[in-house]
Amino acid sequence: MIRHALQAGTRALCRRRFSDTHSREVVEDVLERTESARITKQASLYVHWPYCLRRCSYCNFNKYIPREDNEHMMTECLQRETETLLQLSQVSCITSVFFGGGTPSLADPSTIAAVLETVSKRACLSDTAEVTLEVNPTPVGKSKLEDFFRAGVNRLSIGVQSLQDKDLEILGRDHSPQQALQTVAEARRLCPGRVSVDVMFGRPEQSVESWENELSELLRVCDDHVSLYQLTLERGTQLFKQVLQGEVTLPTEEVTAEMYQCARRTLHQHGFLQYEVSNFARQNAVSHHNRSYWKGTQYIGVGPGAHGRFVPVGEGGVLREARTQTLEPDIWMREVQQKGHATRRRIQLSHLELLEEVLVMGMRMTDGINNKHWELFSPHLGLHEVFGTSSDVKELLQRGQLILDDRGLRCSWEGLALLDSMLPALLVELERHVNQRLQEDDHAKGQTKRNSDLQ
Ligand SMILES: C[S@@+](CC[C@H](N)C(=O)[O-])C[C@H]1O[C@@H](n2cnc3c(N)ncnc32)[C@H](O)[C@@H]1O
Ligand code: SF4
Repeated sequence: MIRHALQAGTRALCRRRFSDTHSREVVEDVLERTESARITKQASLYVHWPYCLRRCSYCNFNKYIPREDNEHMMTECLQRETETLLQLSQVSCITSVFFGGGTPSLADPSTIAAVLETVSKRACLSDTAEVTLEVNPTPVGKSKLEDFFRAGVNRLSIGVQSLQDKDLEILGRDHSPQQALQTVAEARRLCPGRVSVDVMFGRPEQSVESWENELSELLRVCDDHVSLYQLTLERGTQLFKQVLQGEVTLPTEEVTAEMYQCARRTLHQHGFLQYEVSNFARQNAVSHHNRSYWKGTQYIGVGPGAHGRFVPVGEGGVLREARTQTLEPDIWMREVQQKGHATRRRIQLSHLELLEEVLVMGMRMTDGINNKHWELFSPHLGLHEVFGTSSDVKELLQRGQLILDDRGLRCSWEGLALLDSMLPALLVELERHVNQRLQEDDHAKGQTKRNSDLQ
């Protein structure tokens, strides 16, 4: 699901870039120091399984209904692309693995085992590293949970979405609430303390009262991690058409905002700490994999349509790249067979773009961004320097939505619900300071050159 959070996060980023080459030199200089050994040697790994049994009415993720059984080839290609990208990144330690989709619980457990084996051969993957599998609670695949566990999965993220029959039908899900509850129970038996449930709110015709009841029911059965996603109406989906044609109505913004706040309070009362906009954990059962995205750590994305962010050290790269793999599974497989990987798009991230991501992703966490962490990416421009003088930011601080103190920068409880509206002001301030610093550095460089020319 992090891909969703990431998409939302990166959508909020304005695509601006440096074009002049001497700015690039400064950037590289800074990055050589910030993207230092620790940052470039570690990464998390996302593996995308692109197949689903059917299309849910709201979903625009990269998924396909399989036409034939090609799992053998798919497995080989996932292994090959993993090897290639590990080699390209020169990452020596994979800190966590996430099998997402699509519906990766439709894959054969031997596929999961094969990918993990490849990772272990090419990099260090500790026995205790978090290995998550997204699971659809469909009857197909239920019996396989134990086999996934044996294959090396140690955390299960179950797409419950709703506990209402009628809603599951509108959403186009292929399971009942009972099947979802059985899957959660079975998962808890296998991985106690390491089971997460995904639930969506803001669903068609949903009321705050029914949401409260549903959440209470869920809290009676769930484990120690809950992800709550506000339903996004995505263009091109069946739900989008239904809403456009007036066949179904979504709750208003005010109602969904109330649902979010009510869920935060309820989860808190049940001992769950919110650690990110959509994520809540008890007993510190946070998702290490997702947290690594919010902390701006490198990640490698393998499989059709997967996204990655890493420095291609293996081919002499010094800047982090945003990489996207080919979307369509058959074409993806062909490219992997031909070239060892199917990277369709590579964009070098400028220093500003990297900081924008660290900011946008970091502010999603309740802890926000601490000074030390920011310094890793921005050693010469501290959080207080960037945000301490802006009048817009001051207003957010005075309103109590934002906190800037000795720890760093973060949202208040009220502010976290308003993050999207605060980000533009923060991004403008960041851009202004980074550009100003680049100009000052350029000026100083020019001055030094003139002095040495005169001597
Ligand atoms: C893309 S799904 C993949 C996992 C699995 N196939 C499933 O459906 O549970 C990951 C999560 O994304 C969330 N999601 C997908 N589309 C969404 C949308 N339009 N709005 C909000 N959340 C969405 C769902 O909560 C889902 O559990
Ligand atoms: S099962 Fe998951 S990935 Fe597949 S269509 Fe439904 S929401 Fe999307």
